[in-house]
Amino acid sequence: MSTVSPVAQPHEIVWTLTNNVVASRSLQVVAELAVADHIAEETVSVKQLASACAADPDGLDRVLHLLSTYGIFERHADGYGHTDASRLLRSDHPMSMRAFSRMMGMPVIRASFDQLEHSVRTGSPAIELAAGDGLWPYLVGHPEEAQIFGQAMTGKAAADTAAVLGAYDLGRFDTIADIGGGRGHLLRAVLDAVPTAEGILFDLPDVIQTLDIGRDRLTARAGDFFVDPLPTADAYILMEVIHDWPDAEAAAIFTAIRRAASPGARVLIIENVLGDTESDPRGHTLDVIMLAVTGGRERTGSRLGGLLEAADFANISVIDTAGPLRIVEAVAE
Ligand SMILES: C[S@@+](CC[C@H](N)C(=O)[O-])C[C@H]1O[C@@H](n2cnc3c(N)ncnc32)[C@H](O)[C@@H]1O
Repeated sequence: MSTVSPVAQPHEIVWTLTNNVVASRSLQVVAELAVADHIAEETVSVKQLASACAADPDGLDRVLHLLSTYGIFERHADGYGHTDASRLLRSDHPMSMRAFSRMMGMPVIRASFDQLEHSVRTGSPAIELAAGDGLWPYLVGHPEEAQIFGQAMTGKAAADTAAVLGAYDLGRFDTIADIGGGRGHLLRAVLDAVPTAEGILFDLPDVIQTLDIGRDRLTARAGDFFVDPLPTADAYILMEVIHDWPDAEAAAIFTAIRRAASPGARVLIIENVLGDTESDPRGHTLDVIMLAVTGGRERTGSRLGGLLEAADFANISVIDTAGPLRIVEAVAE
């Protein structure tokens, strides 16, 4: 028998969601302080953790206690140990999510959510009140935050890459261009999986110039996809790029790709494609992040398909992966 009364349950839903920001901020602060880096296999006392992180023992204990109720860190009589989730907050974890938590805790991102009402009232991204030119120019002017952003993209993609590669055979392409590919984490994994392919990474000059490409079959091209010609390739992959933009800009990116692509080339949009009928909190969380932070949106396969068809792509299909992302494939006519 349920212990929650039918009256209490809706009340708890509203209470819990209203206060979700508390656990979220606790996680971001713990990531910022690098608490997880000071725990290895053994339990570590709160006093030691606080001293290592320049924190107040009682304040730190209270946020860690909260996180442990979500399975992030394990609370023991003599301190805290790791769980699989808290290990992901270590800086040296191969799939580290520490930078992702730090990124969502960056003042410019938090300010965007403080001003979410602006987006809801006007439809414009709230970030314009915190950083007038938007996220990308802001990152150019703030290299430390740009570095956290780049690490965050690598971390969030780490869990999705295998699912994407498992769902789609890229082995038939000789040249694969990753448009807005950031630090090239997806393209590197693609080239590992397809030893015959050449990869071209295309991103803004300020992103490309920080990279040490250092591997064969991978070249980098710096440019702005609204201004500069894109490379010619057999396949174009765009992971979580189109959702950063409103429809007009998304259409302009597709047109730029179509201009560079030979007939028969494939474009693959890899993102949290919304279902035409079903709704899930993950997709709609990202949708509101895009509303506030980039001015973009998550889209259904049909909406993406319409934009692709307008740019002379055809044969549109939506491919599920084993993870949360889907792939929308289209063929240049
Ligand atoms: C959300 S990140 C996605 C990075 C990567 N594809 C991933 O999934 O991890 C969007 C990328 O688009 C790049 N970008 C933004 N505006 C751009 C432009 N005008 N031209 C080229 N790249 C751009 C950013 O620098 C960033 O690397």
